[in-house]
Amino acid sequence: MFETIEKLPADPILGLTAAFNEDSNPKKIDLSVGVYKDESGKTPIFAAVKRAEKLWLGEENTKVYIPPPGYPEFNTAMQPHILGAGHQALKENRVRSVMAPGGCGAVRVGAELLNRSRSGATIWVSKPTWNNHGPLLGSAGLKIKEYPYYSDKTHGVEADAMLSVLRKVGKSDIVLMHACCHNPTGADLSREDWQAVARLAQKQGFLPFVDCAYHGMAEGLEEDGYGARLLAESVPEMLIAYSCSKNFGLYRDRIGALLVVAADAGRADAGLTHVNNIARAMYSMPPAHGGAIVKTILGDRELYRVWKEELDGMRVRMNSLRALFADTLAKKKAPRDFSFVKSQRGLFSMLGLKKEQVQRLRKEFSVYIVESSRMNIAGISQKNIEYLTDSILAVL
Ligand code: LMR
Repeated sequence: MFETIEKLPADPILGLTAAFNEDSNPKKIDLSVGVYKDESGKTPIFAAVKRAEKLWLGEENTKVYIPPPGYPEFNTAMQPHILGAGHQALKENRVRSVMAPGGCGAVRVGAELLNRSRSGATIWVSKPTWNNHGPLLGSAGLKIKEYPYYSDKTHGVEADAMLSVLRKVGKSDIVLMHACCHNPTGADLSREDWQAVARLAQKQGFLPFVDCAYHGMAEGLEEDGYGARLLAESVPEMLIAYSCSKNFGLYRDRIGALLVVAADAGRADAGLTHVNNIARAMYSMPPAHGGAIVKTILGDRELYRVWKEELDGMRVRMNSLRALFADTLAKKKAPRDFSFVKSQRGLFSMLGLKKEQVQRLRKEFSVYIVESSRMNIAGISQKNIEYLTDSILAVL
């Protein structure tokens, strides 16, 4: 049987970690996988998470299966956390949610639900989008098309080009949007852009699917929820995939959520039965530990305060690293202007390097970035900034 199976190339993002770990260059820098790192290069466990884990260890008295949608307290807390307390869709009782195995699990289950509703439907994704969106959405059977999003020239969102394509997208299609901290570009929609998308979704009837993997890491928890909240107010149906990997630092615990917003309570209930049924056929029920930690934090005023403070600190630090990077290159008289990095948000920016330049960075300087020239800003530090910027200058 397996003689028909060919070896696959390494994953375009995760594969770089393996290559980095094998690299013996003491100056090596890993700016590939999207994980937050502190000044020492470590991905710390949030203090709020440590405290929640301690509490939970004392409280947990069984390892029996959790209900298929996950902990009810997680879902009750997560819906207003994402949509904002008092959101109209919550008042109308037309939102249901489940815990999912990370943001990936949430995107995949959402895609399966969409494919069940309309087999082989077209989903529009931004050009470019996260490398794993294609496999996650395509594996569910959806057809993928791209809408223009990022301009290599302005290093910002090409809103007019995007809207002119979305204007032609009809009611049997789905449009995937990044809530904030667009992966891989770091270029986010403005409020006006979100309003224009919401008007089009209303008029054209397409179903928005918002991927929210970096909530609180662009401008703040309230601000970063703007697009998803506006859409949930504007349209009868949408999906939101949420990841707790980065903003709670729970990467390996695999915890996220899928929110189904439907036209009314009955449709929402029906949607939930399908989501549970889809999950049952793939993994039965989500891993419990991450959900227990998140529900503990969201349900405890003091832990929530500590968590939010830590998240705010990460965001502020990433913005200072953006400035450090762009200003250092400017001081070194780089032949290109990298000031756009300062106006982008989240973990990523795309440097606009060619594939060969990205390869030279890796082979000659042991600086690891994704082939699209996406760089993880959080991997920059005071210690590596000189070597990093010198290496980039050398390949420019
Ligand atoms: C990334 O884009 O690097 C992260 O979301 C990690 C992943 O799973 O790809």
